[in-house]
Amino acid sequence: MSGNRTFTMIKPDAVAAGNTGAITKMIEEAGFRIVAMKKTKLSRERAGQFYAIHKERPFYEDLCNYMSSGPIIPMTLEKENAVEDFRTLIGATNPQEAAEGTIRKLFATSIEANAIHGSDSDENAEIESNFFFSRTEQF
Ligand code: CMP
Repeated sequence: MSGNRTFTMIKPDAVAAGNTGAITKMIEEAGFRIVAMKKTKLSRERAGQFYAIHKERPFYEDLCNYMSSGPIIPMTLEKENAVEDFRTLIGATNPQEAAEGTIRKLFATSIEANAIHGSDSDENAEIESNFFFSRTEQF
């Protein structure tokens, strides 16, 4: 059975472009409840820790530099079938392949600067939420 929480970050490109409000509105209108939310900035080192799973990938260095280039909005979200439904809402990693009406289709500018992150499993949703928020900050 699927869990009911996922983790997301509005990425530096979308925050800088002033799309935080529009994206958050789409998330809430899709039925997700915001459990935790803040505006913060990752150091290069913390970005490297968050994306450690991609350490061997050719895009890792660029990704860490990009993710530490400006403020982000991490959020923990709640909804039935949260991980899968959220990945449907955001669309494919590459915005050129993202379905019409998805957050990445509307707001992403490239495969790297793709506006938003969504956890890929219940297990990672919990790890990623705990990376940014203590348990007492998740309501
Ligand atoms: P996300 O799904 O949040 O987590 C991994 C990130 O790496 C992904 O979003 C993109 O921002 C980035 N990424 C994935 N594939 C590529 C790629 N081929 N080239 C550059 N960046 C990528």
